[in-house]
Amino acid sequence: MRPFALALAFASIAHAISLWNTTGPYHVGYTQHVFNHTTPNDPTEPGTFMLLTIYYPTPQIPNATFPYLDSISAGIFEATIGLTPGVLSKLTTRLQFQAPLLSDTSKGFGNSTSPYPTLIFTPGAGLPASSYTAYLSELASYGHAVVAIDHPGEAPYLPLPYTNGTGGVYGYPDFTAFPPTEEMTFQVLDYRVSDILAAMSDPFFPALVRQYGAPFNLTHFGVFGHSIGGAAAEVVMSSNSSAAALFKVGCNLDGTMFQFVNESSGEVTSTPARDLKRPFLGVASEQHFDGVAPGEDGDYTWGYFNKAQSGWLRDVQMNGTTHLHFSDIPLWIDLLDQRKVLNRTWVGPADGVRVTHMVSALLREFLGSVEGKGLEGVDEWVDKTPEFVLLAQKNP
Ligand SMILES: *[C@@H]1O[C@H](CO)[C@@H](O)[C@H](O)[C@H]1NC(C)=O
Ligand SMILES: *[C@@H]1O[C@H](CO)[C@@H](O)[C@H](O)[C@H]1NC(C)=O
Ligand SMILES: *[C@@H]1O[C@H](CO)[C@@H](O)[C@H](O)[C@H]1NC(C)=O
Ligand SMILES: *[C@@H]1O[C@H](CO)[C@@H](O)[C@H](O)[C@H]1NC(C)=O
Ligand SMILES: *[C@@H]1O[C@H](CO)[C@@H](O)[C@H](O)[C@H]1NC(C)=O
Ligand SMILES: *[C@@H]1O[C@H](CO)[C@@H](O)[C@H](O)[C@H]1NC(C)=O
Ligand SMILES: *[C@@H]1O[C@H](CO)[C@@H](O)[C@H](O)[C@H]1NC(C)=O
Ligand SMILES: *[C@@H]1O[C@H](CO)[C@@H](O)[C@H](O)[C@H]1NC(C)=O
Ligand SMILES: *[C@@H]1O[C@H](CO)[C@@H](O)[C@H](O)[C@H]1NC(C)=O
Ligand SMILES: *[C@@H]1O[C@H](CO)[C@@H](O)[C@H](O)[C@H]1NC(C)=O
Repeated sequence: MRPFALALAFASIAHAISLWNTTGPYHVGYTQHVFNHTTPNDPTEPGTFMLLTIYYPTPQIPNATFPYLDSISAGIFEATIGLTPGVLSKLTTRLQFQAPLLSDTSKGFGNSTSPYPTLIFTPGAGLPASSYTAYLSELASYGHAVVAIDHPGEAPYLPLPYTNGTGGVYGYPDFTAFPPTEEMTFQVLDYRVSDILAAMSDPFFPALVRQYGAPFNLTHFGVFGHSIGGAAAEVVMSSNSSAAALFKVGCNLDGTMFQFVNESSGEVTSTPARDLKRPFLGVASEQHFDGVAPGEDGDYTWGYFNKAQSGWLRDVQMNGTTHLHFSDIPLWIDLLDQRKVLNRTWVGPADGVRVTHMVSALLREFLGSVEGKGLEGVDEWVDKTPEFVLLAQKNP
């Protein structure tokens, strides 16, 4: 048996492909916590808890690789997208579960303090936060604690921690058909917001940070998300909750802002858009805007939101991209050489690795503003990157 097992081990190492090599100065650890939180009008089951995955900088050098996705989720995504069966099992990460925390007080890392804003992230409808691992770990490698929120019962499958691999929640099997109704779109947006605001408050994330004395910033937050998660970023920043004031910046990755769509007429709602008076970044796929500024001819929900803003605002399109580009999915397709296998155009021509590099660097420049660096870096990065097109801008 032994030689056979060894051969298998070598085979799997030989074929392993790193999902993402982080480029920041820190290694990355992560931990997971389940928090009870019941959401009203919840179309998903069970609707009684949320899962927080926290990515953070660690001084510990990784000495191993780990599978990127659990085998159940991988199997479901392979079948839905039409990837070669088993191919996602080749992808690995070097993210270290519960690796030691940074403790360098001379650099500002201490119990509940960090020089870098903490980031809250929620995914696109129907996808687990793990399908954004490249973005989330990349930002953590630059010093941020990144809190990704999963709403169990939504994504096709969500493995739960501390169950020795036996616990998980099944949700909607086909992420492309979620949410199935318009009514549900609004319900999903509502629980995204409810989950984010709850996570930000005691007894959840802040209490956890104090309990462990974790070096995560509890006074300066940024919020971002993809698709409906990006729409939620704007809603939480607009909310009257005291937690909302802790968000210094927000970013929407290609999400239509459904909060400005009238559910019955489909036209722009009469609900006023709030002036956030804080920097906001919209990152758009070419598929979504086709070079047209947000407004009557582009996505009117972005135009409606923009009109109300008096703070710094940029809407940046990346050419060659489609909606799913702002997730790990283009990495699955390009790193695993799947374009020729697929019978449908899941992502536009832009290369997955390049898009992830350019967009995460844009986010880094944007977040640097919270650390006191100013926002000029965003414009410089847009100028330097040939695929970026500035669709709209406002300056305070
Ligand atoms: C990660 O690094 C490995 C080894 O240096 C390299 O072969 C691979 O292409 C890199 N992957 C990405 C996504 O950049
Ligand atoms: C969370 O809910 C579960 C199931 O209802 C319960 O057993 C557990 O005690 C709750 N945990 C907390 C911290 O309230
Ligand atoms: C890898 O690092 C972990 C954490 O420091 C340690 O527990 C483990 O023994 C190391 N494994 C090897 C093969 O060095
Ligand atoms: C494309 O692939 C999907 C997933 O494997 C499959 O369900 C579908 O039938 C295929 N469609 C065509 C037209 O081959
Ligand atoms: C949080 O980060 C900001 C800059 O990003 C810094 O000004 C502030 O002092 C930090 N707060 C804590 C408690 O570490
Ligand atoms: C966890 O699962 C593995 C096999 O999947 C088993 O060998 C191990 O005994 C289990 N551990 C516990 C604590 O149940
Ligand atoms: C972190 O600081 C808080 C007070 O802000 C304190 O209650 C808590 O015990 C400290 N945590 C640790 C692990 O020292
Ligand atoms: C939030 O506060 C604003 C300004 O005070 C007020 O106009 C608005 O109605 C409040 N919104 C909610 C949902 O309470
Ligand atoms: C939505 O549209 C309906 C029908 O056109 C209208 O009666 C209603 O006032 C609108 N609601 C909002 C919030 O704009
Ligand atoms: C980017 O795409 C827009 C259309 O979406 C096009 O007008 C523009 O020329 C493109 N720019 C570059 C540099 O390819």
